[in-house]
Amino acid sequence: MKIISSIREIQDLALTLKRDVRRIAFVPTMGFLHEGHASLLREGRKRGDVLVLSIFVNPIQFGQHEDLDRYPRNLDGDCAIARECDVDIVFTPTAAEMYPGGFQTSIRVSNLALPLCGASRPGHFDGVATVVTKLFNIVQPDVALFGKKDFQQLAIIRRMTLDLSLPVEIVGMPIVREADGLAMSSRNAYLSPDERRSALCLSRAIRLARERYAAGEHTAETLLTAAQELIEAEPAALIDYLELRDVDTLETVSTVSDSTLMALAVKIGATRLIDNTLLGDEP
Ligand code: PAF
Repeated sequence: MKIISSIREIQDLALTLKRDVRRIAFVPTMGFLHEGHASLLREGRKRGDVLVLSIFVNPIQFGQHEDLDRYPRNLDGDCAIARECDVDIVFTPTAAEMYPGGFQTSIRVSNLALPLCGASRPGHFDGVATVVTKLFNIVQPDVALFGKKDFQQLAIIRRMTLDLSLPVEIVGMPIVREADGLAMSSRNAYLSPDERRSALCLSRAIRLARERYAAGEHTAETLLTAAQELIEAEPAALIDYLELRDVDTLETVSTVSDSTLMALAVKIGATRLIDNTLLGDEP
């Protein structure tokens, strides 16, 4: 497994691989890898001749008062998981390498980035779209894999790839959950044992909404109220947003269907967690 931090070096290597008609599969991450990332890497291994993992905590997708400085990092642990998943190349650039002095270019996907996390974290998705575009230009992937836990991010990356005619196939992979239902996230590492228990209110709210929907309840307001009451019964939880939206347009709906997304962000103590489900999806 090669570990590369220079843009020039990996870009040259990628162009050589492509000349040899090798298919490049790419999993971009911010590191502190867990089973969710491993599932992307294992799928990437099947889809490419060469598997590239990037680890870069991207400063421009964090707001001023967010957790950039304390974002968990563990390069040795990440490399061990990468080896287990048979990664060929790990790309770990510095911020100075990615954003040279004078950097002033940004990619913005407009409407899809406005609601949900875009409303709570202004500028976040510009940072994501910009770094993903750069990473695509650097790594030259044929296929790139992203987790559906960051559903809005995935929708934005799909839109951007289509709008900018980027020659990359985007694959969305199912959310990976702990045995008790908590969606896997690097930020789960911030939770104390008590907070970890409280955090189950996100997946429980989702399960409740899914059960009520399956039982025939199609009124958005009723489903949202039930989920909201469940979360608010948890003293450590503070809802940032809890919404039902169309899965393609991300516009709000009043009557739900199989193509309705329930998305939520909840603060558990100081930690903001997100989760989502497509109401019509198999459990
Ligand atoms: O999902 C993430 O880890 C990040 O947002 C990404 C896509 C690697 C961009 O920094």
